[in-house]
Amino acid sequence: MNLIDGKKRREIKYGIEKRVVTLPDGTSLPSIGQGTWHMGEDPKMKEKEVKALQLGMELGMKVIDTAEMYADGGSERIVGEAVKGRRENVFLVSKVYPHNAGLDRIVKACEKSLKRLGTDYLDLYLLHWRGSVSLEETIEGMEILKKDGKIKRWGVSNFDTEDMNELWDTKNGNNCMINQVLYHLGSRGIDYNLVPWLEEKNMPIMAYSPLAQGGSLRRQLLTNPVIQEIAEKHNVQPLQIALSWTIRSNNCLAIPKAVQEEHILANAEAAAIELTNDDLNKLEKVFPKPTRKMPLDII
Ligand SMILES: NC(=O)c1ccc[n+]([C@@H]2O[C@H](COP(=O)([O-])OP(=O)(O)OC[C@H]3O[C@@H](n4cnc5c(N)ncnc54)[C@H](OP(=O)(O)O)[C@@H]3O)[C@@H](O)[C@H]2O)c1
Repeated sequence: MNLIDGKKRREIKYGIEKRVVTLPDGTSLPSIGQGTWHMGEDPKMKEKEVKALQLGMELGMKVIDTAEMYADGGSERIVGEAVKGRRENVFLVSKVYPHNAGLDRIVKACEKSLKRLGTDYLDLYLLHWRGSVSLEETIEGMEILKKDGKIKRWGVSNFDTEDMNELWDTKNGNNCMINQVLYHLGSRGIDYNLVPWLEEKNMPIMAYSPLAQGGSLRRQLLTNPVIQEIAEKHNVQPLQIALSWTIRSNNCLAIPKAVQEEHILANAEAAAIELTNDDLNKLEKVFPKPTRKMPLDII
């Protein structure tokens, strides 16, 4: 199936590449990338998943997020297949399990990820969530990997404000480049004090599950009359408005996962949607920023 012609592809790519976030080391990245959770689980889906990621890359979605956890390495293998011969055009992110984040295991875990991905370096390596290994030890491991050229930079995932404070107080903790956390219109807990903390440090967030994945929160985004009204005005779909909202501030890189071609196109096109102040105010009224600290939303 090929839903778009070359001209349309170029237009979408232009929209994506115009909208960037900048990491603390100055690297600029298009603010919509691709997630890969659940890819690599079903061998029958392999070809479709590889093609999906390749279409996303062709449309300018340069960042691909995976993890050693996903399909027990299967997702990294799919990504490896998709980026073969195109490594330079992609920004590869993978994540280490907390139990592999100690000095005795992190190099091995990273090397295994590299092998599955068919590459000799990661652009970004994240600690998937905090476990029992000390931050000091994990950071040391990340810095060794960096020095050895196996990763270009590192970051964290599922870190709340207190974790970030602790990270900052740890030697080399301020070399962290990003915090990947759950974020969408229906889950705004991080807007209370984590987003302001990160903004102060000029560190972007990477928004996972930016389309609320599925289930009742997704239904809420799909059926909310305000989102629907704004979507109609922009002549787009409600979920595109939700995605566009996550990247409204130039400090957030969203990584929706999509295998269906129409989903990939819709997500890529969302980068070009310009929400007006009036749209943002209306959304703020129905999905307000929290007025107190909420537990970090995690899946
Ligand atoms: N750090 C962490 O702890 C963590 C946790 C969760 C996720 N993540 C990362 O974040 C990525 C994204 O999150 P997610 O996979 O949980 O959820 P998501 O991106 O919010 O939602 C993915 C689901 O939405 C569908 N979809 C995608 N685009 C759509 C569109 N435009 N319209 C309608 N449906 C659409 C996909 O279907 P199809 O695939 O069939 O197209 C898939 O079922 C993950 O894949 C993973 O890389 C990280």
